[in-house]
Amino acid sequence: TLIVADMEHRVAELKQKWGPKLLIPGHHYQKDEVIQFADITGDSLQLAQMAAQNQEAEFIVFCGVHFMAETADMLTADRQTVVLPDMRAGCSMADMANMEQTERAWKHLQELVGDTMIPLTYVNSTAEIKAFVGRHGGATVTSSNAKQVLEWALKQKERILFLPDQHLGRNTAYDLGIPLDEMAVWNPMTDQLETERDPATVKIILWKGHCSVHEKFTIDHIRNVRERDKNIRVIVHPECSYEVVQLADCAGSTKFIIDTIRAAEPGTRWAVGTEMNLVQRIKQQYPEQQIESLNPDMCPCLTMNRIDLPHLLWSMEQIDRGEPVGVIRVDDQVRQEAVLALNRMLAIR
Ligand code: 13P
Ligand code: SF4
Repeated sequence: TLIVADMEHRVAELKQKWGPKLLIPGHHYQKDEVIQFADITGDSLQLAQMAAQNQEAEFIVFCGVHFMAETADMLTADRQTVVLPDMRAGCSMADMANMEQTERAWKHLQELVGDTMIPLTYVNSTAEIKAFVGRHGGATVTSSNAKQVLEWALKQKERILFLPDQHLGRNTAYDLGIPLDEMAVWNPMTDQLETERDPATVKIILWKGHCSVHEKFTIDHIRNVRERDKNIRVIVHPECSYEVVQLADCAGSTKFIIDTIRAAEPGTRWAVGTEMNLVQRIKQQYPEQQIESLNPDMCPCLTMNRIDLPHLLWSMEQIDRGEPVGVIRVDDQVRQEAVLALNRMLAIR
């Protein structure tokens, strides 16, 4: 077995050897041992934009989770190969909506409200779900453009079916002035719209999915940190619940969290409600700020964490041997329709 320094040395060597022909994008939730080798880091939107723009790389070793690598594959040229260093790096939220459930939901809902819906999906979803959305005239959204995309969607149709994260959907719609009682949850387990209201009065239909990392931040955590320190600023990701987002001082994507903290007065105290690797990193990078996790237990995204230094090295060595593994290749038909949804999003400013 190689020791860490050897592995780091070897990754650096391979990066040097391949130059711009091998690109390593890294999501903000990745471990430091991986992020140190990333050519670009970013939130989901930035990483998708990067994929759409990059022409040079023959191989993209995507340090993030499966749906992000799929998105990169769909937005890059055919001659560019995307690999995921560990195929087990999925996203539990993306797995909360499958095609059968979605087709069933659409059919049921059409019976209830007719042809008045436009589907939107958080990028945290499978390529197939994106294709479904593309086929029905909808778009993808990320946590940093959700507001703009919802505004666009409401100009197209009377109501939105928002997959698969109920929290991002609810938080964003509320931000746009839509009252909670004009939103209802679709439960894919029971095939039911969970509301007492007449479905015709529901504007936002929220898929009953969530992120298992962000559900670990609660209003009790916020109350506790404020009890200790009434001046502490609470900043959270919009995958947190409505109650948490309302009680927090601000909410936004991983990029928003980093930018907000970076721009703050030195000495500001922060309780951050998002994935642990990012919280740890900003704590180190901005020592002039006083940063802690909103949940003292810390909250790792276990699937993001599956990408580690040994997997990164292994995947680069396989490429170097001419035998890439973990190649992400989205089926052509799926890709064609999913790209419609992605491009609609990328066109919205
Ligand atoms: P962003 O980087 O877009 O904020 O997304 C966070 C996330 O949970 C990705 O899975
Ligand atoms: Fe999925 Fe949540 Fe992990 Fe993001 S943090 S990849 S939404 S499980």
